[in-house]
Amino acid sequence: MNQDHPASDRKVKGAGIYSYMDMVAGEAEGYALAHTSPLSPLLEEIESFTLTKTPFPNMLTGRVEGRFLQFVAQLSGARRIVEVGTFTGYSALAMAEVLPDDGRVITIEHNPDHAKIAQGFFDRSQSGSKITLRLGEALEILKDLPDAETDLVFIDADKQNYSAYYREAMRMLHSGGLILADNVLWYGRVFGPQDDSSRAMAEFNDLVNADSRAEKLFLTIRDGIYLIRKR
Ligand SMILES: C[S@@+](CC[C@H](N)C(=O)[O-])C[C@H]1O[C@@H](n2cnc3c(N)ncnc32)[C@H](O)[C@@H]1O
Repeated sequence: MNQDHPASDRKVKGAGIYSYMDMVAGEAEGYALAHTSPLSPLLEEIESFTLTKTPFPNMLTGRVEGRFLQFVAQLSGARRIVEVGTFTGYSALAMAEVLPDDGRVITIEHNPDHAKIAQGFFDRSQSGSKITLRLGEALEILKDLPDAETDLVFIDADKQNYSAYYREAMRMLHSGGLILADNVLWYGRVFGPQDDSSRAMAEFNDLVNADSRAEKLFLTIRDGIYLIRKR
């Protein structure tokens, strides 16, 4: 679990939900939330459950990022998605909901409690059959996935392994495939990293930036999302 996620008790001003965003003004976050269409009732329920019943609600992507993931999945025409870091299942289900019937999401989680919660929500959704939850260490599971058969990889787990996940993702993607990496601002700690997670995130950002195989767009949505396209 990402227990090193800082500031789990901060609130978005005006939004009424927990957030860990300091990099975008709270008022702007609340405004963005209010001007973004809600997701499905089950996703709203997962959000509410996560915010009130789990000790790390700040790990949830939530409505704005969930809608962003849906837009990227739809606009890119993705059918094969791999997610690193399931938590309570919000982002996996958000993406599964917009996939065509033959679309598939593999989501990877090493915490059995998180996996159980997520699977419970997937089982209640019509889109849940598109999701395969793999319980275990993400890097080991990624290494078993085939070359060049994935359309989109969403990286949202332990920060120390982001660079390793990136290398595997680039292998798994076909040309034109996409990576979305969450928390790349890491609360602004990447600007002057002082701890292991922050150093790992700064190194990951530099690794991506130097990779000539990739087109990159560093987005300042929430805690930062790196949008990467394999050439
Ligand atoms: C930030 S949360 C994911 C949030 C989720 N994508 C969402 O939108 O709700 C990160 C998750 O990754 C899991 N995780 C952390 N390190 C992992 C690892 N090495 N292998 C598999 N899962 C891991 C944590 O247990 C946690 O549930």
